[in-house]
Amino acid sequence: MRRLRKTGVIRELVREVQLQKSDLIQPIFVEEDLTTDASISTMPGQRRLASSSIVKEATVLVERGVKAVILFGIPKLKDQMGSSADTIDGAVQKAIRQLKNELGKEVVVMADVCMCQYTSHGHCGIVRDGEIDNDETLKRLANIAVSYAREGVDVVGPSAMIDGQVQTIRQALDDHGFKDTAIMAYAAKHASSFFGPFREAAFSAPEFGDRRSYQMDYSNPEEALREVALDVREGADIIMVKPALAYLDIVHRVKKRFSMPTAAYNVSGEYSMVKAAAREGWIDEKSAVLEILTSIKRAGADMILTYHAKEAAEWLG
Ligand code: PBG
Ligand code: ZN
Repeated sequence: MRRLRKTGVIRELVREVQLQKSDLIQPIFVEEDLTTDASISTMPGQRRLASSSIVKEATVLVERGVKAVILFGIPKLKDQMGSSADTIDGAVQKAIRQLKNELGKEVVVMADVCMCQYTSHGHCGIVRDGEIDNDETLKRLANIAVSYAREGVDVVGPSAMIDGQVQTIRQALDDHGFKDTAIMAYAAKHASSFFGPFREAAFSAPEFGDRRSYQMDYSNPEEALREVALDVREGADIIMVKPALAYLDIVHRVKKRFSMPTAAYNVSGEYSMVKAAAREGWIDEKSAVLEILTSIKRAGADMILTYHAKEAAEWLG
């Protein structure tokens, strides 16, 4: 076996899986009414962006070869209904507008469709008597998705894990004439401790209870496949497994079973663990990140949502 490992050029020749910049999607936080960008203490190197910084940031990304971003909004006002999620001057709506005006077809603009950043209680849907009301939430999610489509978003990413969300959003998009807006379904999204740093960043931790009545139990791989099957049938264009690293088996099975465009979300906790260890000098960040991202691709992901995207693109040259 060692004959083909002798030199860098021969190793490159026989390489089976090649991580590419075009596989990466950079998550971006955009906060309403922020005047200067704010660093995020739980996610070193990431920032909440002011709306005036969005185009500049995306331009740098595109120049480096990262041509897809997913937007997460942080509103000024939160209430029971998450009212600020679908307003025309919301942070995400504004960012989509700017990006599509300035960068057009140079960039794929995605937007996360959920309510947890917008509700006062921090849950991903409408709460009635202490429970998440499935079908009331569907209407809100559809409105949010349509409000992004109006601004020209390329892909909406429903992430609430509410039953029927993909079908409802597909129907609403079609009814409003947005037949070309694609859906990347957070299909197998697990209730995970690795979302912690994100919730600090986006002020979206639930005020009571947890998300286990809608996000998946990580002990159920067969159920993960059923979740994905439903989203495929409901009209998802891309299916996502989340998180990525502790779920590479699911990524692999999903790609094998469905042969669909498959995304994996290398989430905040997975990012921050690497950053913390690198800061301490316990691991070499660059080689660790490239190894991690390659492993996600090797498992079967076609695309990777990762906070490492901007830096990894530089390392990939
Ligand atoms: C919204 C959403 C979350 C993440 C992506 N979309 C938070 C959550 O479900 O609590 C987490 C992403 C990450 O940790 O990087 N529902
Ligand atoms: Zn949510």
